[in-house]
Amino acid sequence: MAELGSKPAEHKSALAGHASVAEELSYNASQVRFDAGRDPCECASGRASDEPGLPWVAVVTGGNRGIGLEICRQLASSGVMVVLTARDEKRGAEAVSILGSLGLSNVVFHQLDISDPSSAVRLADFVKEKFGRLDILVNNAAIAGTISEVGNPETFRQEVAGMDLVEKIGRIRKHVREPYKQAEECLRTNYHGTKAVTKALLPLLHSSSHGRIVNISSRYGLLRFFSGEELKQELNDIDNLSEQRLDELSELFLRDFKDGQLARRGWPTEGGFIAYKVSKAIMNAYSRILAKEHPSLCVNCVHPGFAQTDMRFQAGDLTVEEGARGALMMALAPKGGMTGGFLNLTEHAPFM
Ligand SMILES: NC(=O)c1ccc[n+]([C@@H]2O[C@H](COP(=O)([O-])OP(=O)(O)OC[C@H]3O[C@@H](n4cnc5c(N)ncnc54)[C@H](OP(=O)(O)O)[C@@H]3O)[C@@H](O)[C@H]2O)c1
Repeated sequence: MAELGSKPAEHKSALAGHASVAEELSYNASQVRFDAGRDPCECASGRASDEPGLPWVAVVTGGNRGIGLEICRQLASSGVMVVLTARDEKRGAEAVSILGSLGLSNVVFHQLDISDPSSAVRLADFVKEKFGRLDILVNNAAIAGTISEVGNPETFRQEVAGMDLVEKIGRIRKHVREPYKQAEECLRTNYHGTKAVTKALLPLLHSSSHGRIVNISSRYGLLRFFSGEELKQELNDIDNLSEQRLDELSELFLRDFKDGQLARRGWPTEGGFIAYKVSKAIMNAYSRILAKEHPSLCVNCVHPGFAQTDMRFQAGDLTVEEGARGALMMALAPKGGMTGGFLNLTEHAPFM
């Protein structure tokens, strides 16, 4: 039995035959609407610096494989100085070396386990000392909160080839279990971990002339998956929601999960990936609170789509290049663009 997301990715397909970032961004530009009514084509300029000779600095969490590695590749390709982080030193160093072999020397590694707050503090010290500021934070690292019973991922991938998305997800669900231990780990990583990293790096984002936070979320974090109207409304009522309440909700969810009482309070009950859905919904709400409290920053959430990564047994419909597009658009968006928003792939969409 393997835990979802625990196997190192095969990066060859992820890194072969790329169009340039500028081409990819301009391909997407027509699909995006920015709240502030700015011309989305501005973000296709590939401009990766506010001042000549001073590249933007980005931190990407979970940068050693999957969508995170691809985000690092695309950011570095557009001239951003990338701090690729990974919890495992060896896997992180290997990822940097893969990007180096593509001619991307503007990538450095720093260890970061997002579920360990002291690790986030060490990363912040490193970024402060080396760059003095941070322009872009991509909170990408996450886990599915499940245990997989898929034996051979390649056999599984062949088994689901040709199925439509709904059938594929249904088949994946049949092969995963969601014990309490994994649910707890999921909330601790996807919500609390993301928050700890963000808090540690916030002062450095404020030292940038245009700090941006891109939280890689999921369609599964949309509030439509909650079974109770009251909870849905509470999580959507950003003006009256606090970080402290989100922490309480996270603990309440875990208690209800343990006690088999999910329906009573209105948590998601159908379709599996319950803890993952709750972790992303709470992270989305945190992201919106941050956007409100830090108007000088741009803070947005992005659903990358069902992408070919280990988390989805390489069975997704999208390549990692496609999955990284929305994140790149938000990471490279010009000053004054959307904040507190959600992108479904590259389309602005509601949190509901
Ligand atoms: N793929 C999809 O279809 C899809 C759909 C919707 C949303 N997403 C979101 O997209 C993001 C990337 O997912 P992916 O598909 O690329 O998944 P993935 O291939 O499983 O990669 C997950 C990454 O997160 C890292 N990670 C997990 N826990 C960590 C921790 N405690 N500290 C530091 N790093 C940690 C992993 O590191 P290790 O190698 O050390 O495990 C790995 O680098 C996630 O936020 C996911 O929820 C993906």
